[in-house]
Amino acid sequence: METIIGNDIEQAAKFLRYGALVAIPTETVYGLAGNALKEATVLNIFHVKERPVFDPLIVHVKGIDDIHRFAKSVPADAEVLMQKFWPGPLTILLQKQQLIPDLVTSGLNTVALRMPAHPLTLALLNELDFPLAAPSANPFGYISPTTAEHVYDQLQGKLPYILDGGPCSVGVESTILGFENDQPVVYRIGGLPVSEIEKLIGPVSVKPNASSNPRAPGMLKSHYAPSKPLYFEKEENLALMNLSGNGALICFENFKTDLPFRQFPLSRDGNSSEAARNLFATLRELDKSDFDFICAIPFPDEGLCKAINDRLLRASQ
Ligand code: TXA
Ligand code: MG
Repeated sequence: METIIGNDIEQAAKFLRYGALVAIPTETVYGLAGNALKEATVLNIFHVKERPVFDPLIVHVKGIDDIHRFAKSVPADAEVLMQKFWPGPLTILLQKQQLIPDLVTSGLNTVALRMPAHPLTLALLNELDFPLAAPSANPFGYISPTTAEHVYDQLQGKLPYILDGGPCSVGVESTILGFENDQPVVYRIGGLPVSEIEKLIGPVSVKPNASSNPRAPGMLKSHYAPSKPLYFEKEENLALMNLSGNGALICFENFKTDLPFRQFPLSRDGNSSEAARNLFATLRELDKSDFDFICAIPFPDEGLCKAINDRLLRASQ
C-alpha cells in the first residue's frame, strides 16, 4: 500500500469513511486513527500497531456536546474539567455506552474520551459522523511520533494516509483521569499538569503504575522505549556506573558536569514546554545515531517535567 503524506482533510475523511486508517496530528502526539464504531477497523488499528487487544484505545471526539452518545453519565468534576481544558491534552474515563464496541475498551466498562486541540484534526472530526479511536501512531512499546515523518518512518505501507499537521505543540501524551467511587484519579501523567487539574477540582490521587492498575495495561512499565540502552539516573549514579562507549546525555538545560557524554539539552533556557516538545524527537534521533547508549538525568519534579520524568523512566525499563 502506498502511504501519502498530505494535509487534505477531504481525502483523509474519505479514507476513514471507507474504514481505512489515517494518522492524525494532535497537540500531544500523532494518532493512528480509525472509525471507533466499526469493529473491523478497530481490529486493524491493533494489528497495524502490533498492540495487544487487552490495551484499550482512546476515542477522539469533536466536542463536549457529543459525549453523551458515548458516555452514560458524566460526573460534575468531569464536566468542569472538560469545559476548562477541552480541546486539550486531557483524556477522561467515563462509563461507556453500548455504541462503543467492547474491542475499543478491551472489555472495560469505561471509555477513554478526548477532544484533541489541533485545527486539522478538529476539522476532520467535524467532517465525520463517527468518533476516531486512535492510539499513538508508533509500533507498540516504541517512542511516540511527534511529526508526520516519524509516523512515515515506522508505518509506511501500512496505512494509506498521514495527515500532516506539523510538529506537535505539546509533545507528550494526554493526561488520563478517571473516577473511583466518584473520586478523581490520574492514571497517566501527561500534557496537562496535575497541578492545573487540582486548581479546579481540588486534590486528585495519582496512580500511574500498571502494577497498581492492571486494568489499564497501557500504562505498562516499559514503554516509549528506544532500541538502544537508556540509563535514567541521577548524575552521581551515572558517574558510578562506569559506562564504557560513546554516550549521549539528555538533560533539561546545559549544565556543568564531569560526565564524559555529549549533552543534549531539551531546552537551553530551562523551559518545560519546550523540553516536552523536544523529548520524543530527541530520543528518536539519538536512537538512530552512532551513540552506543543514551543517558538521561531526572528533570525538576514539577509541571510538565513530571511527564518527561515519567516517560524517561518507562523508556529506561
Ligand atoms: O495524547 C494522547 O492521549 C494520544 C493522542 C493520539 O491522543 N493517544 C495515546 O494513546 O497516547 P495510547 O493508546 O498510546 O495510550 C492510551 C492509554 C493507554 O495507556 C490505555 O491503556 C489507556 O489510555 N486507556 C484507554 N482506555 C482506557 C480505559 N477505559 N481505562 C483505562 N485506561 C484506558
Ligand atoms: Mg502510546
